[in-house]
Amino acid sequence: LKRTPLIAGNWKMNLDHLQAIAFVQKLAWSLSDAKHDFSTVEVAIFPPFTDLRSVQTLVSADKLEIAYGGQDVSAHDSGAYTGEISGQFLSQLDCGYVIVGHSERRTLHGETDEDVAAKVKAAIKHGLVPIICVGETADDLEKHGQSAVPVAQLKVALEGLKADADVVVAYEPVWAIGSGQAATPEQAETVGAALRAVVAESLSADAAAATRILYGGSVNSGNIAGFMREPNVDGALVGGASLDIAEFAAIVRYQ
Ligand code: G3H
Repeated sequence: LKRTPLIAGNWKMNLDHLQAIAFVQKLAWSLSDAKHDFSTVEVAIFPPFTDLRSVQTLVSADKLEIAYGGQDVSAHDSGAYTGEISGQFLSQLDCGYVIVGHSERRTLHGETDEDVAAKVKAAIKHGLVPIICVGETADDLEKHGQSAVPVAQLKVALEGLKADADVVVAYEPVWAIGSGQAATPEQAETVGAALRAVVAESLSADAAAATRILYGGSVNSGNIAGFMREPNVDGALVGGASLDIAEFAAIVRYQ
C-alpha cells in the first residue's frame, strides 16, 4: 500500500499573518521553480491560529497544493472555553490536519494522554486528520528505553477510535526537539515500527499499512534523506528548519 510521504512544517509561535502571506507565496514559488511533484511528497504547514485565514485565502486563490492546519485543537465543540479553538472553526477554514499532543503542549500546558485522546476524537469528529505527537524525554530514555513511552502515549491516544480512523503519528523524541541533536535514522525506524504495531493492534492492519509515521526533532536538509530511507518513517514534522524557505523547500525535495 502506498503511503504518500508528508513533510509538515510546524511554525510554532512564529510569523504573523502578514509574514505568513509572504512566506507561503515564496515557498510556493520555490517549490514550483523546482518543479516539485506534490503527488510524490505532500507538504503541510502549521501556522499560528491567527494566520490561518490568510493562508486559506492564499492557498485557495492560487490553488496551491499546500495543506495546512492548526497547532492544537480544543476537545470541545463550542462554549465557555476561553482561549480554545474548536475543530469546527479549523474545518471551516479548510484545514486538513491538526497537530495534537505536541510535547510543548504536554510539558508547558500540562496536557495529559487523556487530554490528547479527547482532542484526537474532536479532530476526527470535525473532519481533520490529527497528527498525534508522541515521544520520550531524555529522562524517559534513560529509565525506560526509547519505545516504551511513545508506545504507551499512542495507545491512549488511539483508544476508542474506529478501525479505519485516518490519523498521522509523529514520533518526536523530546531530547531531539530544537536541540540540534536529531535521533539516528535507525532509532527513528525502531520506534516507528513499534508505533505502527500499536496502530495495527489498536485500529487495524489496514490502518497500520495506511498510516504515515513522521519523525520530528532537529530535522534539516542534511539529515532528511537518511530518515526517509527507513521503511517506517513516512515523512517529517519540522520545527526550526520550516521557518527558512530554502531549507524547508530542500527538505521537501529530499529525494
Ligand atoms: O514540531 C516540530 C518539532 O517540535 C521539531 O522541532 O525541528 O525545531 O527540532 P525542531
